[in-house]
Amino acid sequence: MSTSSSSQPRAAITAMGHFLPEKRLTNADLEQIVDTDDEWIRTRTGIEERRILDDPDKATAYMASQAAEELFQKHDIDPATIDLIIVATITPDMEFPSTACLVQDSIGAQNAWGFDLAAACSGFLFALTNGASFIESGRAKRVLVIGADTMSAITDYEDRSTCILFGDAAGAVLLEPHDTYGLQDTVHYSDGAHADLLTLPAGGSLNPASHETVDQRLHYLKQDGRPVFRHAVTGMADVCVEIMERNDLTGDDVDFLVPHQANKRIIDATANRMGLSSDKVMLNIHRYGNTTAATVPLCLNDWQAELKPGHNLVLTTFGGGLTWGASYLTWAYDGAEYDS
Ligand code: UT7
Repeated sequence: MSTSSSSQPRAAITAMGHFLPEKRLTNADLEQIVDTDDEWIRTRTGIEERRILDDPDKATAYMASQAAEELFQKHDIDPATIDLIIVATITPDMEFPSTACLVQDSIGAQNAWGFDLAAACSGFLFALTNGASFIESGRAKRVLVIGADTMSAITDYEDRSTCILFGDAAGAVLLEPHDTYGLQDTVHYSDGAHADLLTLPAGGSLNPASHETVDQRLHYLKQDGRPVFRHAVTGMADVCVEIMERNDLTGDDVDFLVPHQANKRIIDATANRMGLSSDKVMLNIHRYGNTTAATVPLCLNDWQAELKPGHNLVLTTFGGGLTWGASYLTWAYDGAEYDS
């Protein structure tokens, strides 16, 4: 699916917040749990440590709410003015009610409606496009888009091929109408033919929870890493080149690439194809690992101080589904004013 809007109002990011749990899980910690080593993890993925939500009473809705609260506080925004909340997640607190409903109550957004969006690692980008459509059509004035995942809840800490990859976090952005800046173009893809490469097999309507599913550890994420890697390297780079060509952008025109953080090698290959130097690539995988729907808003939060009005950003993701995409966004405010 491709969209390009020119006559409608833009949907611009006008505020941001994020949440990272305190607990760090380092590569050295993982060496004590599975047969792995720091050198392998760093050279194959770029990851050095991840954050883990270590409180049995808290989960994705808590992290998403904390990210939203930070956004409200930093930008002096009244939660009652929010029209819509979209939470991108594959680790909702429970199947229903939606995480968006739990967040709506916890942040006091009494005038908002909301829903969850499940597109694995592409969740935030797909949610951003959805949220932007409500702004562009005039159906909403303030949309909260949150990417939040408690990956530690579905990670098998006996499987060395996946447990080294994932971490927990949340990032939130506010979308509002803007005359000039905001979401300029999006290109999104889904390919269910490769659904089996990255999946959570049990707990849904096909394989409801049973003693057998638990015994077989089917409530944990499974990934066939090598083919996913191959699809990700070509998919991410191709879609970024596609959105650059559609918008007559060269590498010189792009101020920042904001890539999903699954593997540094995938990010490097994408930046290479786009003709970008490393200083234009937002990279924090070494500190947080793969936080699924949270990686892109976490990057935006980390780079907030460097973002200026008019900057050209290309956001890109690749993940289970398979799902992937790119969005071309022009930045709307001076991030340095809100950096702390
Ligand atoms: O975010 C959603 C999308 N996901 C992605 O984009 C992830 C894409 N995939 C990847 O990033 C990579 O495939 C991984 C990081 C998951 C794995 O890296 P790889 O270079 O593809 O390794 P591999 O799976 O081909 O395994 C190479 C070797 C194997 O040993 P043999 O068969 O060559 O003897 C594995 O058993 O590395 C072994 N291995 C490990 N060794 C030490 C696998 N995991 C580990 C580990 N520590 N944690």
